[in-house]
Amino acid sequence: MSEVSTVEKQTMNTYGWATRDSSRILSPFHFKRRHEIVGEVTKVGHNVTKFKIGDKAGVGLSIPNSLPLHGVAPLLCAGITVYSPMMYYGLCKPGQHLGVVGLGGLGHLAVKFAKVLGTKVTVISTSSSKQKEALERLGVDSFLVSHDQEQLLAAVDTMDGIIDTVSGPHPILPLIDFLKTNGKFIVVSVPIEAPEIPYIPLIMGRKLLGGSGAGGMKETQEMVDFAAKHNIIADVEVISMDYVNTAMERLANGAREERPARWRTERRRRGEAKYARSSGAGEVRSDAGDVSMGGEAAAPAPAILLK
Ligand SMILES: NC(=O)c1ccc[n+]([C@@H]2O[C@H](COP(=O)([O-])OP(=O)(O)OC[C@H]3O[C@@H](n4cnc5c(N)ncnc54)[C@H](OP(=O)(O)O)[C@@H]3O)[C@@H](O)[C@H]2O)c1
Repeated sequence: MSEVSTVEKQTMNTYGWATRDSSRILSPFHFKRRHEIVGEVTKVGHNVTKFKIGDKAGVGLSIPNSLPLHGVAPLLCAGITVYSPMMYYGLCKPGQHLGVVGLGGLGHLAVKFAKVLGTKVTVISTSSSKQKEALERLGVDSFLVSHDQEQLLAAVDTMDGIIDTVSGPHPILPLIDFLKTNGKFIVVSVPIEAPEIPYIPLIMGRKLLGGSGAGGMKETQEMVDFAAKHNIIADVEVISMDYVNTAMERLANGAREERPARWRTERRRRGEAKYARSSGAGEVRSDAGDVSMGGEAAAPAPAILLK
C-alpha cells in the first residue's frame, strides 16, 4: 500500500474526546495528530533508532523514565510554551524578577521553571483564592491580586520581564508599567479580543513587546530533559474518561470549588478542553520512522485535568 494510505490509517487511529460546539459536552472523536500525546512504545519500525519497545515517548521525543506520563503530557504544550520564551528572551537568569500573569495551565508551569532557574517570581492573578497555594506550594515570591490598586502601584517599575498567559480580555497597560526600563512583555496567550497596544510606555521605557508560540522539537526535548532533571511536572488530576463531562462542569464552576481547577472554560475560543482527554492512545510518526504507542484505540483511556 502507498505511504499516504499508511498515514491516513494512523490518523484514523488517533482517538480522543473533544467538544464540537459551545455546549462543552465532550464525545469520542478521531483526531488528526496532536502534540500532547505521550505513551509507551509498543512497536518500532525498521528505521527507528531513537526508541525501543518499553521506552516512554512523546511525539518524536524521548521522555525520561523518571517523569510520570500524566504529568509530562501537558509539558509538551503548556510547558514548552512558557519555557521557550524564558530562554529566547533571556528571562531565566538568577536574580531577575519575572511576572507571570494568570495562574492557570501555562502560568503554574512558568512559575515552576522560573523558580528552578533562580528567578524571583511574582504572580499577577484575578483569583485571590490561589494566593495561598501560589505562595506556600509553588513558592512564588509575591502574589498580586489584579484588582488591588495598592498592590499594583507598589509593583510598578520592578520587573525584568512578564509572561502573559491570560486568554480573557484584560488591559496590558498596567502590566507594562510593572516593567523596569528595557523590560520585556511576552504574550503567549491567544486573547479573544486583541488588547490595545500602549505605544508611549513602550517607547519611553525602551520596553519590548514580544510573543512566543510553543517550540520546536529540539527545544521541547531540552525542556523535557530539564524538567526531568529538576523533577518538574504539571499539576494534574487524572480522571476516568466517563467522568470527563462532569469535569467540564467543574471547570466551568471552578470558582465555587474548594480547590478549584485552574482551568476556566467560559472564555475559551474554541471550547476545547485540551487536557481533558486521553493521554495514552494514539500513533505518532517521527523523523526516524513510525513509532506506535500503547493505548487501545477505542477504549476509554484516562483523561488529565490540570489542577
Ligand atoms: N502560544 C502558544 O503556543 C500557546 C500554547 C498553549 C496555550 N496557549 C494559550 O495560552 C492561554 C492560556 O492557556 P492555559 O492553558 O494556561 O489556560 P488556563 O488554564 O485557562 O489559564 C489562564 C489563566 O488566565 C487567568 N484569567 C484571568 N482572566 C481570565 C478570563 N477572563 N478567562 C480565562 N482566564 C482568565 C486565570 O488565572 P487567574 O485566576 O490567576 O487570573 C486562568 O487560570 C490560552 O489563550 C491558550 O490558548 C498558547
